[in-house]
Parts: sequence; C-alpha cells; structure tokens
Amino acid sequence: MTIRKIIIDTDPGQDDAIAILLAIASPENLEILGITAVAGNVPLSQTQHNIRAVCELAGFDAINVYAGCNKPMLRTLATAEHIHGKTGLGGADLPCPQMPLQDTHGVDYIINTLRKEPQDTVTLCTLGPLTNIATAFTRAPSVVRRTQEIIMMGGAYFEVGNVTPTAEFNIFVDPEAAKIVFNSGIPIVMLPLDVTHKALVTENRQTAIQALETPVSKVVANWTGFYERFDIEKYGSLGAPLHDPCVIAYLIQPSLFSGRFLNVEIETQSDLTMGMSVADWWGVTNRTPNTKFISDLNDNDFFDLLTKRLARL
Ligand code: BDR
Ligand code: CA
Repeated sequence: MTIRKIIIDTDPGQDDAIAILLAIASPENLEILGITAVAGNVPLSQTQHNIRAVCELAGFDAINVYAGCNKPMLRTLATAEHIHGKTGLGGADLPCPQMPLQDTHGVDYIINTLRKEPQDTVTLCTLGPLTNIATAFTRAPSVVRRTQEIIMMGGAYFEVGNVTPTAEFNIFVDPEAAKIVFNSGIPIVMLPLDVTHKALVTENRQTAIQALETPVSKVVANWTGFYERFDIEKYGSLGAPLHDPCVIAYLIQPSLFSGRFLNVEIETQSDLTMGMSVADWWGVTNRTPNTKFISDLNDNDFFDLLTKRLARL
C-alpha cells in the first residue's frame, strides 16, 4: 500500500484529537504534510493551541501547524463547548504547547502545498467546518483539480442532525463552505453521523484503551469518558462516538467501511433545514453523483485498529 500524503484540517475537539493521534501513529500509511486549524468546536485561538498540544502529547513536534479561518465564510461562528468543554479537550487538559505556530495562514498553506506537490497526490482530511478548504478553492480555483481526494467527517442523512433536526455540526457551522466543496467536482468521501454513531466507545472498548496504561491512553480514555455524557443523555447511546477518527481509519483500512456513491447537495436557503446534507440515496433525481456516502463500518475491527495504533504512542 502506498503512503498517502495528507493535510489534516481540524477543530479539536476530543474526537479530532484522537484522529490526529491515530494519524501520527500510522506512518506506514500516512505522511502528514501539515495540520491546519479551523474555528469550530471552539474558537480558532483554542483549536490551533489544541493541535499543537496533541502533537506534543504524541511526541510528534516536528510537524508544522497553521491557523486558518477564524469564522465561517458568511455567518457568525457557532461553537460546541457544551459538548467538548471550555477548552475543547475537556476531561484531560494538556500542558501548554511549546512548538511554534507557523506564520503562514492555513489557507495559504493549503494553496501552496497543493501547487507544490505533484497533481493528485495530496488528500485533504477534514474534521471540522469546511471554511479553510472552501476559502482555498475560492481564492485559487486551480488547486481544485490538483487535489487527490477529500475525506471528510460531516453531514447526516438517515441519522438526521445533531445540532438541528436536520443538520450535522460541521456542515451547519459553515453551510456555504460545504456547498462550495460539494460542488467542486473533487472526489469526496463523506463519513456522516450515519456511520460515526456506530463507532461507539462502549465500556469494553474504554477498558481496552485504559489497559494500554500509557500517558496517551490515559488521556484518550479521560476524553471519551468526558464527552460520552452528552451522547448518552441525548441519544441513550452506549458511549462516545468517535466521529473524526473514522476519517483516518478510512484512509488506513478502507475495507472497514461500506457505502454508496451518490449525489449530496447542501441546503443554504431554508431556515428550517439550513446545513442539511441531502443525499440522493435511491437515485431519484438526475443529479450527478459527487460523493461516496459511507453508511456502515465494522466497529469491532475499527476499535481493534485504533487500540493497536494508540499502543504505539
Ligand atoms: C462533528 O462535530 C464535532 O463536534 C466533532 O468534532 C465532529 O467533527 C460531529 O458532528
Ligand atoms: Ca471535529
């Protein structure tokens, strides 16, 4: 298997943080070119800080981290401290990071990297609102066709919304950005709530992670222990859903996942359904398929992979 070059665009968030750890622990699969911060779960000043703290937790401080957009393209920022805690990493706050934040803006970094690297060799892994990516595509349209693929956590269809009755958080925060990305023509793999709500940290899985007894595993277990309360109260679920790590696991072992290639459009007009990702599951429109919509995963093998990789850190 070839090593894929990726840029991770993220708004940590505990599940983003675990996704970053999984990527760092998988050098035989992924080369992380850089990590860009976006405003989302918490404001940008906190997301860029959290990325650097997570890299240092993993002993991976040679990576370059960039701050991108501090608010959605057209809207006021909506954050999610009620789920992730004030810092975004509630449950286990990390030491203040020492590694520097790069001077280059995250959007410029994305544009420059896509221009510099050979065409079709860089995959964008998006774990938050799509503001940085859509801004890069708007500012430098020529980089669109240079992008190999976008693997994103975002959206929901049969599972409906987690922030409104119809919208998932990452899409809801910046629906205009999501619309630009879904209309860009780039191959998209979407990991919506339909699949991420099946990646649950049940008690046994939590115990297996804790049993690694490493500093990293303790932090991970504290994070999932912290934010599972929200999903258990809201959905009666069996544990914290690991939304964003699904993106990285998909890159490492795509056979864990299954889905359908179909058309997805983003609602940006209706107040009632703002940010809805409308998936043409039955092919009842003549709209061109633009997305691989992932709807299922082998959850036991997913947690097996995650736990084994975390053990390396
Ligand atoms: C998404 O929103 C955030 O709260 C999580 O980090 C994830 O990316 C789930 O809706
Ligand atoms: Ca996220």
